Amino acid sequence: MRISVIGCGYLGAVHAACMAKLGHEVVGIDVDERKIAELSAARAPFFEPGLEDLLREVQETGRLSFTTDLAAAEGSAVHFICVGTPQKKGENAADLTYVDSATFGLLPYLSPGDLIVGKSTVPVGTATRLSNLIQAQEPDAHLVWNPEFLREGHAVSDTLHPDRFVYGVANGSEEHPAVAILDEVYSTSLALGTPRLVTDHPTAELVKTAANSFLATKISFINAMAELCEAAGADVTRLADAIGMDDRIGRKFLNAGIGFGGGCLPKDIRAFMARAGELGADQALTFLREVDAINMRRRTRMVELSRELCDGSLMGKRITVLGAAFKPESDDVRDSPALSIAAQLQLQGAIVTVTDPKALANAARRFPELHYEPDTDKAAERADAVLLLTEWKEYQNLDPYEFAHIVSSLRILDGRNVLDATKWRAAGWTYRGLGRP
Ligand code: UDX
Repeated sequence: MRISVIGCGYLGAVHAACMAKLGHEVVGIDVDERKIAELSAARAPFFEPGLEDLLREVQETGRLSFTTDLAAAEGSAVHFICVGTPQKKGENAADLTYVDSATFGLLPYLSPGDLIVGKSTVPVGTATRLSNLIQAQEPDAHLVWNPEFLREGHAVSDTLHPDRFVYGVANGSEEHPAVAILDEVYSTSLALGTPRLVTDHPTAELVKTAANSFLATKISFINAMAELCEAAGADVTRLADAIGMDDRIGRKFLNAGIGFGGGCLPKDIRAFMARAGELGADQALTFLREVDAINMRRRTRMVELSRELCDGSLMGKRITVLGAAFKPESDDVRDSPALSIAAQLQLQGAIVTVTDPKALANAARRFPELHYEPDTDKAAERADAVLLLTEWKEYQNLDPYEFAHIVSSLRILDGRNVLDATKWRAAGWTYRGLGRP
C-alpha cells in the first residue's frame, strides 16, 4: 500500500521504517529539514536501537523516502499522523498545534476513500473534532484513532510486534470501512495473531492515556512504598519482588528509584487531568496529582540523600552523575529525572559532571550550564560522590574495586536500585539506594 507518515520524530521515523519493512511504499514527511536530510541518508536523527540498520535495509528496497513537502502525501491511501503533543507552556494541557496543522495541511491532498490514522497521544474528543473537519472537506475520507504504545529503546520491535492494535472509528463498528483498510496495513502482524480491538473514537483515545496513567501510578505506588521503607528501615526491592509474585500485581514497573520521566508519562498524566477538568470529571483523576507529586518528590529526595552522603553540604563537592537519558537505550532527555537532579545539585553548590553513553549532546542543549564528559572513568575522576541515575548496562556492570581507584571518596548513590549493595559495600564503598536500608 502507499502510505504517508506525517511527523518523523521518535514515533514517526520508526513507524515509517517499520511500515516499509512490512512491504508498504512509504513517504515520511516532516517540517524539520535536518531530520529529513538525516533520514534520507539512512541515518537515525536520534538514538534508537536497530533503527539505523532498519533504515538502511528498507531504503535499499526503494520503498522508503523522506521529504519536507506535504504534497508528497497525495496518492497515499493511508496517512499516519505521528506528530508530537507536548505539554503547553505554563499549563498542564496538551498542545495540539502540530496535530491540527498536520491534519489541516493534509486536507488538500486527500482523495475519496483515504484513511487518516492518528497515532499521537491526544486529549479525548480530538478525534471526533478532527473527523468532522476532514469529512467537511472530503466526505469519503475516514479518520481512525490508532494509538501507539511503543517504548523508546524498544521502538522497532514494539512497532513490528505490538501486543495489541486499537482502532477507534467514528461509529465504533467492526463493519466500518476503515477497519478493512487498516487490517491490510497491519496484515503481517494480524496474521501472527496480534489481537485487534475496534472501538469508538473516544475509547481509543482514552485507552492510551489510561494505559500511561496506570503505568505512572504503578511506578509512583512503589516509590511511595520506598518512602515508607525508608521510614521503617525496610527494603523496597525485596518488597517489590514479593508483591510482584502475585500475578494480579506483577513485578513489571515496580522498580523504585528516582521515578518516571520522558516525553510521554509526565505530560500525558497532566494533559489527562486537564482534559478531565474540561469534561467536568476532574475528581476522577485527582489521584494522578498525587502520582505526579510522589514522582517529583523522588528527585528532591535524591538531592537530600546526596547532601547527607556528602557530610551535610553540597557546596564545592565534586559529584559524578552516571546517566542523563530518562531511561537506558535512549538519548532522550525530555523531563529526565537524572538531568533534573544533576541541575538541582549544581544549583545547590556542587560541581557536577554528567556522563552518558548516548544522551550528552541532547543534555548539553537542555542544560548547557552542566559539565559533560563522555568517558565514564574520566567523569568519575576525583569524585566526592557518584550517583547512578540512568541504569545503562555499562554502569550496572561497573567493578566496584576498579572504580574505587578513580574516585576521591568511595560513596555511591544508586538512584535505580540496580547495583549489588553487598558487593559495593564489600569493596569499601558507602552505598545508599532509594527505599533500602
Ligand atoms: C511509555 C509507555 O511505556 C509506552 O507504552 C508509551 O507508548 C509511551 O510512554 P517510554 O516513555 O518509552 O514509554 O518509557 P517507559 O519504559 O514506560 O518508562 C517510563 C519512565 O518510567 C522511565 O523514566 C523509566 O525509567 C521509569 N520507570 C519504569 C521506573 O521508574 N520504574 C519502573 O519500574 C519502570
